Amino acid sequence: MAQKKQSGSMPNAHLHELFVDELKDILGAERQLLKGLKKLKDAANSETLSKAFQTHYEQTEGHIERLKSVFGELGLTARGKKCKAMEGLLSEAEEIIEEFQDSPEVVDAALIAAAQKVEHYEIASYGCLVTYASLMGHKEAQELLGMTLAEEKDTDALLTEIAMSEANS
Ligand SMILES: [Fe+2]
Ligand SMILES: [Fe+2]
Repeated sequence: MAQKKQSGSMPNAHLHELFVDELKDILGAERQLLKGLKKLKDAANSETLSKAFQTHYEQTEGHIERLKSVFGELGLTARGKKCKAMEGLLSEAEEIIEEFQDSPEVVDAALIAAAQKVEHYEIASYGCLVTYASLMGHKEAQELLGMTLAEEKDTDALLTEIAMSEANS
């Protein structure tokens, strides 16, 4: 992957199609997640957790806007595609909400687990996208995607914090 291939002025041009494909996947995923986060928020018992989901909902809207800018930078129309992984993660989240809806102290822990699985998927996706952008010299895209990556990591850490404090309260 570190192999440098020159095509026009763009280094590592062989990554271009993969980069665009992964951008479409994560755009679809973020859009699916907007709906999912509403359900997670509605199912949360703790005020802190509910707020965290609301905050991440707003951040996710920002992630979508950043992705649109990245597509714009590349001279492409922002078109997402259905992300099967996000679909699966969110359907597992719904399953777990149903299973534990009668035990409030368990449901919040289950929601955190489901949300962290989502965050880890996003962290992996944005991590790769930042790497590709860097390898191809898309500086602006690299910066935008890096900002989102940092927010996904922060969300993951916040969820761990909430899990620890709620469990000890
Ligand atoms: Fe996101
Ligand atoms: Fe996220």
